[in-house]
This record gives sequence, C-alpha cells and structure tokens, in this order.
Amino acid sequence: MKLKPLTINDKVVKFPIIQGGMGIRISLNKLTSACMNSGIIATISAAQPGFLNKNFRKDPIGENKKELKKEINKARANSKDGILGVNLMHAGTNFPDYASFLAKQDIDFIVSGAGLPLDLPEYLEGSNVKGAFIISSGRAAKILLRSWDRRYQYMPAFIVCEGPLAGGHLGFSKEQMASGDYDSLEKIVIDTKEVVQDYEKKYNVKIPIIAGGGIHDGHDMAKMIKVGADGVQIATRFIATYECDVSESYKQMIIDSKKEDIVTVASPAGLPGRAVRNFLTKSLEKHNLELHYCVDCLKTCKKKDIPYCITEQLGNSTSGDKNGLIFTGAKAYLIKKMDYIDNIVTEIIRDCKKDLKLNGGLI
Ligand SMILES: Cc1cc2nc3c(=O)[nH]c(=O)nc-3n(C[C@H](O)[C@H](O)[C@H](O)COP(=O)(O)O)c2cc1C
Repeated sequence: MKLKPLTINDKVVKFPIIQGGMGIRISLNKLTSACMNSGIIATISAAQPGFLNKNFRKDPIGENKKELKKEINKARANSKDGILGVNLMHAGTNFPDYASFLAKQDIDFIVSGAGLPLDLPEYLEGSNVKGAFIISSGRAAKILLRSWDRRYQYMPAFIVCEGPLAGGHLGFSKEQMASGDYDSLEKIVIDTKEVVQDYEKKYNVKIPIIAGGGIHDGHDMAKMIKVGADGVQIATRFIATYECDVSESYKQMIIDSKKEDIVTVASPAGLPGRAVRNFLTKSLEKHNLELHYCVDCLKTCKKKDIPYCITEQLGNSTSGDKNGLIFTGAKAYLIKKMDYIDNIVTEIIRDCKKDLKLNGGLI
C-alpha cells in the first residue's frame, strides 16, 4: 500500500490532499496560502468573493472578478510554487465568462462541480490552466469523460469523487438523502477508477482520483487510499483554523456543533445542502425567509417561492452573522478547537501512514 505525492499541472505536491473550495469567502488567500505552505493543494472558491464590496449588488460579476484576481495574486505571492486552483460551480450563472477569465490567471486548475461541466475544456484552449471536475457517481464521471474525449480530446487533471458526507451543496436528491439510497464514497471511488482506466490508456496519462466528503482524519484518509483513491479532498476540517478566511463566529459555530446539530436543508439551487442547525434552519421548518435582493447567482434558482437567498444568507454568515446559513460537512461535530493548518495536515498524514503501515518516507 502506497501513499504517493500528487502531480498536477507538472507540479508535485508533497502530500496527496486537496483543500476543497469553500464559498462564500471561506477559502481565499489566507487559507490557501497556509495549505500550500503545509504541502497540500489549495482551492480558492469563486462563489461570490465580491460579496462585501460596496458595488456588489450593482455589478456582481465585476466585483467578483476583481476579488478573485486579488485573492489569487496574494495567495501566489505567498506560495510561488504551490499548486493553486479555483472552484467554479457549473450551476453558477455566467460560467463561460468566469471560466475564460480564470483561464488567464496565475493558477494551476479550475475544478468544477454542482452540475456537469461538459463545456469546461472549451474555455481552457491555449491556457496553462488545467480543468478538473467533481462528481458524485461513477455514471457522472463516465458522461463527462466521454464528452470531454469526443468534443475536446481533453482529459481532466484529476477527478474529485464527492460522497454523501460532504459539506455545501450535495450531489444527491432530497429523496436520496431521506431514504439513504445513494452510493457510499468508497463505491463512487471504485466505480470512477474503473471508468477512468480506458481513458488513461488512450491518452497515456494518469488521472488522479480524489475522495472527498467526511474525511476528518488520517484513518478516514487511509480507508480511501485502500480502496484505490490517489488522494483526498478535505474542506470542513480546515474551517476552524487560525488561517481560514471566514469570520470568527462561523468558526465558533463549527467548534460548538454537536452531532444532532448537523442537518440537511433545501437550497434554492434545487439540491440539498448540509448546515449547522441555527435560527435559519429552524425558521425554514416553518416558513420561507424574506428575500432582499437578487444578484442572479445560480442558473438553477427559480428566484421566486424559494426558501431563502443563498448568496444573502451564506454571505451574511461567513461575514459574521450567526443567524445566516452555516454550511458544513457531516463531521463538523468532531472538531473541538481552533488549530493551525500545519498541525492538522501533519496529524492526518501521520495517522494515515500508520494505518497503511508505512514507516519513514511517503512512498
Ligand atoms: C462551508 C462549505 C462551503 C463549500 N462551498 C463550496 C463551493 O462553493 N463550491 C463547491 O463546489 N463545493 C463547496 N463545498 C464542498 C467542498 O469543497 C468539499 O468538496 C467537501 O465539503 C468535502 O467534504 P468535507 O467538508 O467533509 O471535508 C463547500 C463545503 C463547505 C463545508
């Protein structure tokens, strides 16, 4: 059993961990710099980084691009050689515009989920930025690989398999979440690995498979490596850290959460999301929340008769409002204190290696 460094965009990272993108304004330059400097891959979230800007409601695209450029450049200045990417949700409006913009920035990859990013390679032509995707079933991986092969002769830099314990929007329907009729993360990894093999042969490339959703510690990571993952994606574990860009109150809500506080809520995107139970989730059990403005953020939002506005509620909470939407992964309740990214990464790698019975170096 081996734990190998990951290679993305011809750069090698020491530990096979990707810090997952978290919006709104959770994974920006501070978190990503710390992650890169601790030897893992970092992802800035493209979900409304301009939220706090004065002009945001008038010109969300302009303000988001301005902030993205700023955050990327700051992260890059702090880690010249680190592997840095941006998470761009396919369900977001103006996907082609943002993807073309990001293809010109100093990043290594654009990773896209929340929908099927069938068109992503189109915007990467002539760019050094690589494309990758997030899926929640082997079937979705098959559709995307077949489409990217036929339309663009292009293979992803990596594939993130996101299971049912992940944070943010989930890739499963409300009915599936309620009935438990969904694939485990292990099954998604195994199915995706099988699908990828033919394309790896055809293109003579390695397509790393990354397992995400509920990876809290090194034991969780080792389980994924044992079923064939090349690495893991971790998000929730990195929220309650000194370096994370989110508000202190958001971090504290994560630390204070108990198992019974982690619930699923309907999102205006039409997908279930996972959140910490608070004023917002309790109110939603009785009625929809008032909407105050719309920046047309999601293609899939109906804009009327929706439970709440996701930009407003998530942006408020990540900026310090305890009553907003506190998106989280299923294992947030295991987080007991604030910590440093480097400590967390060191502990995860140590325990993972122990479980894999590896001594000394990585390989
Ligand atoms: C607070 C929060 C915000 C997130 N925001 C995004 C996002 O904007 N786009 C996205 O594709 N995934 C988002 N995710 C999903 C993560 O990138 C990651 O894949 C997933 O949460 C991994 O599971 P874990 O949180 O259990 O480690 C978010 C997750 C959390 C916890």
